[in-house]
Amino acid sequence: MKQHLEHPVFKIIADCADELGVQAFVIGGFVRDIFLKRESKDIDVVTIGKGIELASLVHKKIGRETYLSVFKNFGTAQIKIDDLEVEFVGARKESYNRDSRKPIVEDGTLEDDQNRRDFTINALAIGLNKERFGELLDPFGGIEDLNNKIIRTPLAPDITYSDDPLRMMRAIRFATQLNFTIEENSLKAISENKERISIVSKERISDELNKIILSPVPSVGFKLLFDTGLLHLIFPEMVKLYGVETINGKSHKDNFYHTLEVLDNTARNTNDLWLRWAAILHDIAKPATKRFEPDHGWTFHGHEDKGARMVPKIFASLKLPLNEKMKYVQKLVLLHLRPIVLAKTEITDSAVRRVMFEAGEDVEDLMTLCEADITTKNPNKVKRYLHNFEIVRQKMKELEEKDKIRNWQPPVSGEEIMAMFDLQPCKKVGDLKNALKDAILDGIIPNEKEAGLAFLKDAFTKM
Ligand code: CTP
Repeated sequence: MKQHLEHPVFKIIADCADELGVQAFVIGGFVRDIFLKRESKDIDVVTIGKGIELASLVHKKIGRETYLSVFKNFGTAQIKIDDLEVEFVGARKESYNRDSRKPIVEDGTLEDDQNRRDFTINALAIGLNKERFGELLDPFGGIEDLNNKIIRTPLAPDITYSDDPLRMMRAIRFATQLNFTIEENSLKAISENKERISIVSKERISDELNKIILSPVPSVGFKLLFDTGLLHLIFPEMVKLYGVETINGKSHKDNFYHTLEVLDNTARNTNDLWLRWAAILHDIAKPATKRFEPDHGWTFHGHEDKGARMVPKIFASLKLPLNEKMKYVQKLVLLHLRPIVLAKTEITDSAVRRVMFEAGEDVEDLMTLCEADITTKNPNKVKRYLHNFEIVRQKMKELEEKDKIRNWQPPVSGEEIMAMFDLQPCKKVGDLKNALKDAILDGIIPNEKEAGLAFLKDAFTKM
């Protein structure tokens, strides 16, 4: 273990702890991540009493510029040194007020403190005092659980989860991030305690949800959320995608599992959280727009448009940011069928220009989403669609070089139009601007000033 405590700060903590006669241990995520071979910059130090005093002495002994913040009310202190954040806290024996997540804190032993942690893999501790420097303390078989890839609670799962219901989300998040299995009784306890998620703030829930979404195979987490019933409580719109209906022997696909496939496909090609969110929401309005038309079978007309309109409400309810990230997701949901339509029909320059115009800088992301949306199991169709997408991409490249559509600015501005025809701001100006845009996107005239002026003169006389 000692080789993992090489940073000089550990030695300083050890010396200070001995000087104060305090027992100190590194605990939690930092220790777990040593065994997972993940680098961690957050170091939690637990002490038996005198956490703040130890932090102050360590701060003094470091002898160069570091930051110490003390939170007296919580009995914690933090030191920032190099790129590390070291948090000091006295060991706690916590009992919880059942109506809130805020613990009532009582001093405790190391064992008390380990007992109150969420998972065995997060309850590992390493001694820091001289006579125990580097000694691993693993009272619940955390190492074995790490080796067997198991998420297990130190206490009976009912107690651990109902003490802090956010842990239900954390269990699923760790299982997804690390590709671990949640131990059977734990999983059962999550299903049974799911309603208690209601006392956790939406922001904390979404933090965990976003970590699930950013995992290598996010569908793992969504399936667990669905199976335990948590998804129904935190994100009911997504649950509505679940299920298959059959009329006259015709079934539509299960849009929940389709969405998860699209999400996993997207995750293989991008680490962008918001592009992954676009994958989650691309078909969100399918349940609301679903119809059975005897001549056509199942249809979902306008689901892209309705879906885009649902995005702000969903973002607000999950306390996700209502800023340009939301607008980006909205745009991709709205446009998600466009490249597929292109790829299914004969590809014209004007249709490609229009998609580029509407997607702007995000057109590459739109293509990534659309390729991920190909979940047909028919290999010939997959091949054909991917081939057509390749042609679309090629066309986009050519047209962009020629016409600069992505950041398109009209070659003749509204002001210039008004001056040319001696007009005040009015509908006519808007109509002329639109006609000019359409003419360029349809390839009737090149994206140039002179051609634009000539086109406008002609259009004006015909009005
Ligand atoms: N912890 C807990 N219950 C929680 C949150 C945290 O018992 N609801 C404990 C765990 O021992 C955890 C430690 O506090 O290891 C630190 O928590 P945190 O920094 O939130 O998470 P990490 O486990 O370090 O993991 P990550 O950085 O991936 O969030």
